[in-house]
Amino acid sequence: MSTVVLDNVSKIYPGGVLAVDRFNLRAEDGELLVLLGPSGCGKSTLLRMIAGLEEITSGDLWIDGRMANHLPPRDRDVAMVFQNGALYPHRTVRGNLSFPLEIAKADPSLVRDRVIELSKALHIDETLDRRPGTLSGGQRQRVAMGRAIVRQPSLFLMDEPLSNLDAGMRTELRMEISSLVRALGVTTIYVTHDQVEALTLADRIAIMNRGVLQDVGTPGQIYNDPATAFVAAFLSSQQLNLLAPQVRTPQNQYILLDFGPHQITMPWTDPRAYAVSQHTGGTIIVGIRPDALAPVPETYDGPSFQGRVRTLEYHGHEWLAYVEAGLPAVAVPEPPDPRQNGKAANGGTPGRARSMMRRLLSGPEREPEHEPEDMLNGASSSGTHRRADLIVRLGSRPVWRTGEHVRVGVDLNRLMLFTNDGGRIDPPRR
Ligand SMILES: Nc1ncnc2c1ncn2[C@@H]1O[C@H](COP(=O)(O)OP(=O)(O)O)[C@@H](O)[C@H]1O
Ligand SMILES: [Mg+2]
Repeated sequence: MSTVVLDNVSKIYPGGVLAVDRFNLRAEDGELLVLLGPSGCGKSTLLRMIAGLEEITSGDLWIDGRMANHLPPRDRDVAMVFQNGALYPHRTVRGNLSFPLEIAKADPSLVRDRVIELSKALHIDETLDRRPGTLSGGQRQRVAMGRAIVRQPSLFLMDEPLSNLDAGMRTELRMEISSLVRALGVTTIYVTHDQVEALTLADRIAIMNRGVLQDVGTPGQIYNDPATAFVAAFLSSQQLNLLAPQVRTPQNQYILLDFGPHQITMPWTDPRAYAVSQHTGGTIIVGIRPDALAPVPETYDGPSFQGRVRTLEYHGHEWLAYVEAGLPAVAVPEPPDPRQNGKAANGGTPGRARSMMRRLLSGPEREPEHEPEDMLNGASSSGTHRRADLIVRLGSRPVWRTGEHVRVGVDLNRLMLFTNDGGRIDPPRR
């Protein structure tokens, strides 16, 4: 098995595209490390550098304590699976699985046993005599994974292996990948743009944007304690509320987050108070997940906002309310794109499709709200202030009606506090 260390690794493609920017990361022996980020952020480039398919422009790659920058791919003991795991069309499943072992001149009886064992683990033992053309997409990806792993590499690299499958198959195969690589104990680096895949699969997640590592930690750490506003927004299944209050400290009695029409006070006893007070007189960015907001009675005297319900949205397992509260909102702050060649981030990603859907569903009378996914894709500039609806998770019953004036309770402990350039105000607790 293997450890992988990236030490200040950068990749500049011919033509000047800076695809990976001074990346530092360590994959531990036997770990399932998920590399997460939006389309075009440099994930495949990073994986291909580890595999030896792409030259490293600067920095060092170490595989198992060995300097690997110039190691030929075949000497890295690495196997890779792509989005469209290409199979040999004229060989049966058995022939595809055994091929890498035949090349390595393995003992035929060992080959037979290994192929059967692996096909059982991947639930394709019934298809061994069939050709790839007769298999479903999910079965083909299983064969591709089997073929990659049959030689028991010490490092397994997967580049969005599930993104061409339908949702049901994705979930099923996701669980199987997880149990397979853990049973084999092989160090695995798994690339995806899907935050659910990352959260459910990973031992640890490394999240990147525009070639730059943003955060790394266990799924729980980076979800609950994100290092940047980008990470918080990217990991939110619902849109993250990003607000821009002014910080005041009236008579030094407490900290006032002044949102214009509403204020929230933070007592000095709050562990984050000192860090926030450093921004007195300026603005900060507050991230609030929709489930950190809740309906409260009009008489509620805890931290809250008031507003008018613009739209209610049914999501099957929950309702979301869009509440017009006149709060100043911001886009996800991002550093300027360092790339000279702007082929980057703006593809037709699922995130973009989702936000377009949201716009379509939200009805004609609604003002454009801020769209984190657009911002993640680099479509809007950072720090743009505008009024946005507050998105509130209501649970399984729509306790409010459209047009109703409501009070929204805020869970103070779950406010995420960022500087205007998107870094955390209170350092993550790890
Ligand atoms: N062979 C190449 N030549 C020039 N630019 C490239 C090449 N491959 C990728 N890029 C650019 O590098 C950036 C990162 O791409 P990639 O690693 O494929 O991102 P991801 O896998 O996260 O979608 C993008 O801007 C992409 O257009
Ligand atoms: Mg890619």
